Amino acid sequence: MLAYTYLDKGKFGLVEKPVPVLQNDTDAIVRVTLASICTSDLHIKHGFVPRAVRGITVGHEAVGVVEAVGDAVKGVRPGDRVSVGVETFCGECFFCKHGKVNNCVLPDGGWAMGCRIDGMQAEYVRVPHADTGLTLIPDGVSDESAVLAGDILATGWWAAKIADIEEGSDTLVIGAGPTGICCALSASLKSPNRVFICDIDDVRLDFVRKHYPSLITLRADEALEKMRAECRFGGADSVIEAAGTPASFRLAWEAARPASTVTVVAMYDEAQTLPLPEMYGKNLTFKTGGVDGCDGEDILAHIAAGKLDTSALITHTFPLSRTDEAYKLFEARADGVMKVALDCTR
Ligand SMILES: NC(=O)c1ccc[n+]([C@@H]2O[C@H](COP(=O)([O-])OP(=O)(O)OC[C@H]3O[C@@H](n4cnc5c(N)ncnc54)[C@H](O)[C@@H]3O)[C@@H](O)[C@H]2O)c1
Ligand SMILES: [Zn+2]
Ligand SMILES: [Zn+2]
Repeated sequence: MLAYTYLDKGKFGLVEKPVPVLQNDTDAIVRVTLASICTSDLHIKHGFVPRAVRGITVGHEAVGVVEAVGDAVKGVRPGDRVSVGVETFCGECFFCKHGKVNNCVLPDGGWAMGCRIDGMQAEYVRVPHADTGLTLIPDGVSDESAVLAGDILATGWWAAKIADIEEGSDTLVIGAGPTGICCALSASLKSPNRVFICDIDDVRLDFVRKHYPSLITLRADEALEKMRAECRFGGADSVIEAAGTPASFRLAWEAARPASTVTVVAMYDEAQTLPLPEMYGKNLTFKTGGVDGCDGEDILAHIAAGKLDTSALITHTFPLSRTDEAYKLFEARADGVMKVALDCTR
């Protein structure tokens, strides 16, 4: 089968590999129908993810059809349509019991697929701990509607969950990339007063205005002033940072009102400075980390009910055989691209 592979620093490519087989009784084999490309794949390509193993198939978000399951798998059967999550986890260790599945103690727990073991930009994938790593796709939900549930939408959902968003409050999301938009859409489910989203890129803000008019768009350079002027207590009640630059990191804590929560979703290429003397007395709570991707069922139920729709984010689709081209476009941010999907059946 074809598998898009991390060959060396700066180099990914399509490689012919054997179709994976069951290795443990908790595994499933999934025939991938649609997979996505993520900014984190680019981080691997450029060597910013030290844990990533050369030779592995990349890709950590997909939908497909279950081909085979191990004897201990109870939740899915061959023929089921499933969403494959970014994380695999035991569900039983200290961290899993507290919902912190990113920190599952298993060697193949947390973000393993497409990083430390073979992932999903391929025709088939072996999913360890299939009962936690796979979620059934409800009837009537298309592959395009479900494909982002495993990673990017899971991240938005998780960020909104930990961001202490109260009913009637104002949230500011920094960065109108796919992650920021998923954060903003998930925040909108918390009955807030307003959800603002800012970016430095007008193309991205135009995209939000066109597809998600309920979100209030701001240019990044006006966001601080607007938050000070328009929000009670002179700042957003909750800030989610999904841009990942020194300027956006600074804006995150500056635009937050006193005694609020700043949720840092972005991954940075370098260390950021927390100027504690400047923020002394503001009594902020910072939350950060990798997504705890364990709410797939809830997310897919919201998609099925029409309450969450991220299908517009898939602006381009390529067959698996043309993945090189797909990466080129995604990396260059050409042609208004948001997310690229790979049709792994072609
Ligand atoms: N924590 C997690 O588990 C997790 C999961 C997924 C993605 N991420 C991270 O989230 C970040 C965003 O991912 P993405 O795929 O949306 O990336 P992206 O690059 O498509 O989007 C980032 C957006 O931020 C904007 N931006 C840059 N500087 C800005 C500034 N100063 N103010 C406002 N906006 C600014 C960019 O124009 C862009 O639109 C990345 O760092 C990614 O690695 C984290
Ligand atoms: Zn990702
Ligand atoms: Zn665990």
